[in-house]
Amino acid sequence: MEETRKKRIFSGIQPTNTPHLGNYLGALRNWHRLQEEYDCAYSIVDLHSITVRQDPVKLRAQIKESYALLLAMGIDPDKSIVFVQGHNPAHAQLSWILSCYTQFGELSRMTQFKDKSQKHPENINAGLFTYPVLMAADILLYQADLVPVGIDQKQHLELTRNIAERFNNLYGETFIVPEPYITKSVEKIMSLADPAKKMSKSDENPNATVTVLDDRDTIMRKFRRAVTDSGCEVRRGEGKEGIENLMSVYGAVTEKTFEEIEKEFEGKGYGDFKAAVGEAVADSLLPMREEYKRIIADKAYLERCMKEGAEKAFAASRRTLRKVNKKVGFIDL
Ligand code: TYM
Repeated sequence: MEETRKKRIFSGIQPTNTPHLGNYLGALRNWHRLQEEYDCAYSIVDLHSITVRQDPVKLRAQIKESYALLLAMGIDPDKSIVFVQGHNPAHAQLSWILSCYTQFGELSRMTQFKDKSQKHPENINAGLFTYPVLMAADILLYQADLVPVGIDQKQHLELTRNIAERFNNLYGETFIVPEPYITKSVEKIMSLADPAKKMSKSDENPNATVTVLDDRDTIMRKFRRAVTDSGCEVRRGEGKEGIENLMSVYGAVTEKTFEEIEKEFEGKGYGDFKAAVGEAVADSLLPMREEYKRIIADKAYLERCMKEGAEKAFAASRRTLRKVNKKVGFIDL
């Protein structure tokens, strides 16, 4: 009888600044939910983060903070592999190999590369250009079937699929070709200060993002100030992108549909609605904040989890790397 294998999930998050509601609703919340049904590997992608200059002291703290947050969210290190990307050297190794099977033209078309090079014209480094190859290596190393992400990562996922198919065509079945796992209603949470822009960790306006560690007062204040329109009806429509974004957030945390939300706030103004969104978000993040405080204070536990995570990640990826080495003609000792 053929052995049945649980489907594999891989996803990653950069340890740059505290994760915000977009990261949480668009991706992280699914990570926690998926671990019951799938074999999951989740990574804090420190290697990716240095494609933009980082302060080393801050980066080190943020790697720990992001790692602790994943645990605080309910990702269980006994059920899932939770690890720091740089702790498994196989990522950088496979990334180099795959970069020799990725075309310059393909990488030049990546919108994230174009955006980031515009934002940092003084530092358009080679790592920024080959960033999606490292991301492909992350995913393909673990033979992931599904990759839970927000819509902004879809293009990178398509490239990953192309690289995997190209390699498989040249050398025979080597990699599983992964599918994106994107939740439609929260695929892109927008900035609270400008509903035309996605909520982003690098936004310099502190009112644009709500982080998962913000306290209740801060959350309430940021939602109260959220940019909407001059109307007063809580519904979707032309020119109402700010309200629609708040409806997406509210819907995601309360599990209500757009229709239910429209009904709930019929005849009420934006003030009431924004307060309700703030309350709902603050309530939903509270248990995680409490748990986070406990975990980040327990240095020994964090270190032990990181170490075990690194070992498990290495063990889970070794087979793929050996297979690839063999196929391209390297000598495996
Ligand atoms: P990162 O760190 O920018 O974001 C982490 C996750 O959050 C999602 N996301 C959003 N979702 C909805 N609305 C938003 N405004 C929003 N902003 C961010 C992202 O889509 C992502 O899922 N390159 C990746 C990290 C990575 C990775 C991987 C992901 C490295 N290797 C392998 C998956 C698989 C990144 O920079 O995510």
